Amino acid sequence: MKLHGTMEINAAGHLVIGGCDTVDLAQEFGTPLYIMDEELIRLTCREYYRSFTGKYGNSEVIYASKTFSTLAMCHMVKEEGLGLDVVSGGELYTALEAKFPPQHIYFHGNNKTPAELEFAIEAKVGRIVVDNYRELELLNALAAEHGRVVDVLVRVAPGVEAHTHEYIQTGQIDSKFGFTVSTGDALKAVQMVTEAANLEFQGLHCHIGSQIFELDSYRHTARVMMELGAEIREKTGAVVRELNLGGGFGIYYVAGDTPAKISDYADLVMGTVSDLAASYSLPMPKVIVEPGRSIAGPAGTTLYTIGSSKDIPGVRKYVAVDGGMADNPRPALYQSRYEAVLANRASEAPEEVVSITGKCCESGDMLIWDIDLPRVNSGDLLAVLCTGAYNYSMSSNYNRLPRPAVVLVKDGEADVIVERETYDDLVRNDLIPERLLRSRSLRVAGR
Ligand code: LLP
Repeated sequence: MKLHGTMEINAAGHLVIGGCDTVDLAQEFGTPLYIMDEELIRLTCREYYRSFTGKYGNSEVIYASKTFSTLAMCHMVKEEGLGLDVVSGGELYTALEAKFPPQHIYFHGNNKTPAELEFAIEAKVGRIVVDNYRELELLNALAAEHGRVVDVLVRVAPGVEAHTHEYIQTGQIDSKFGFTVSTGDALKAVQMVTEAANLEFQGLHCHIGSQIFELDSYRHTARVMMELGAEIREKTGAVVRELNLGGGFGIYYVAGDTPAKISDYADLVMGTVSDLAASYSLPMPKVIVEPGRSIAGPAGTTLYTIGSSKDIPGVRKYVAVDGGMADNPRPALYQSRYEAVLANRASEAPEEVVSITGKCCESGDMLIWDIDLPRVNSGDLLAVLCTGAYNYSMSSNYNRLPRPAVVLVKDGEADVIVERETYDDLVRNDLIPERLLRSRSLRVAGR
């Protein structure tokens, strides 16, 4: 098991994050609880900034906010000098509420609604990443209505298969995202953008998948994109001024995961693009990368209280926590694996193999299959590590479970950045139509 960021184990054998004892955090804020390590978030942002913008100038790192989008997160990302990728009106709204500078916001998505496009135009976001023909025409028309010329990137599907779980591959040809390069659609879309009166072609975007360890996938992608850039210049005269290579940088979840170094990623990407620009005699484009998981993932921990257990001798021992697939659907969706530690007995040696299940009413609600832990008791605290990415953002109220709070910890201070939902929150938007109440009273009256 690997401890992340500021994690340590104190003399009492408790897991400490950001100088805060997790046993105290559980007492003060309750469980389940998402804990985010501010220092690790900021360190990773800085490493990205240093490795790309600091070293190469003409590049930008933008945080993919779908990973973990909250006001405090947008605020920290802004402070660290990164841009922001949003994929919905809701993420855009969150960014603007956090006073994120709109010119550093990139708006993605394969089916942006007219209302979302208008919102983005009115907010003056820096780039809209055009995904398909319908959007291209719609955006041009809406931009004209607003008397604006909108800077766009054209999203393409470069046909690169990254070595990762198939559900989270988006770059291959059979993909819902972007204009396919090999069919000629990408070139045609660029041509259309250059001819559209209210769109300004700035460059290309692609994203080849997530949780990628093989840096070679990026080299290959950069090559496909720069070849396309050369073809675009030859056939349309347009210049790719910006090349956005998407996110996807993989992280350590469990033993065997071997993430690359961010600085190696930066050197490879910038070196490859610059070599190709030289060999095609193209101007060096501004290179953009949009990491999400690698910024938020390792900084997050979910703290649970252990409740019941069920031992089936010779088969399996289930240990249940007070959360589950509602706060972390990733094991059920992607067979994702996690490491965990007993937060109140973190220095004790493992004694038994158990499987961690949630409290939702279905058998698929498993968080970890087969993990070595000390003999657990109900009331113990379990910390599941590396849950900062796509956990809170994909959480649900399944089984009417209120979403956990999120606390941000640093130097012994813990601040709630998202309040725990209450039962009132669960019914806040529910309505019983008058009609139902009426028909009930009629039935009762006629009985
Ligand atoms: N840019 C684009 C256009 C993307 O679609 C994504 C992620 C990213 C950047 C950020 O990729 P990252 O650096 O986080 O790998 N829910 C799944 C992951 C889906 C990824 C979707 N796109 C999961 O829980 O693993």
